[in-house]
Amino acid sequence: MDINDAIFSRRSVREYSSQSVDEPTIRRLIDAAVHAPNAVNQQPWMFTVIRDQSLLDRVSRDAKSHMLANMPAGPQSDHFRSLLGDPTFQIFYDAPALIVISAAAPGPWIVEDCALAAENLMLAAYAVGLGTCWIGFAQGFLNTPDGKQSLGLPAACVPVAPIIVGHPKVAPPAVARKTPDIRWLG
Ligand SMILES: Cc1cc2nc3c(=O)[nH]c(=O)nc-3n(C[C@H](O)[C@H](O)[C@H](O)COP(=O)(O)O)c2cc1C
Repeated sequence: MDINDAIFSRRSVREYSSQSVDEPTIRRLIDAAVHAPNAVNQQPWMFTVIRDQSLLDRVSRDAKSHMLANMPAGPQSDHFRSLLGDPTFQIFYDAPALIVISAAAPGPWIVEDCALAAENLMLAAYAVGLGTCWIGFAQGFLNTPDGKQSLGLPAACVPVAPIIVGHPKVAPPAVARKTPDIRWLG
């Protein structure tokens, strides 16, 4: 696939078929992820692949409770509150797999490194017909001791990018972008 097709056509997918994503495919996506640029080539990332649906259901419930208890007031908070209070809402959209990209230890550029790895992974997934979505709703809980323990993550690691992966049920429509604020100096 042409790189521009991937960049301009990838969308966050929130409806998946029940078809699983096999291990070679997930390894291929992780291989794309680790080719991301990263600070001082430290490659601080580690990848946790969760395909156990009962574990994903449990993490979803805990992450929703954590968000509801810790959510600051903001323009989206009413909408989030009603979504997170809905017992039928699973934050991972019942996707067959979740890949959590974490940094093995804190560091000055780990968020940038893991986010760049996540974008590579999402574009590579799109190129093989898979859908993805970054699930920020999971981040708060996954960064707690209980959250790390739920995924068997070492206490020192920093979960940055929870990305669901699966076969899209529908192709999401284009999402409008604002006109970028560009300031030219020279
Ligand atoms: C850091 C981050 C957190 C996000 N968290 C969520 C989330 O919790 N749930 C969700 O449905 N989408 C989430 N998204 C997806 C965004 O809503 C989506 O990227 C945005 O609306 C633009 O749509 P597009 O990805 O289809 O271009 C997140 C994206 C990012 C980058």
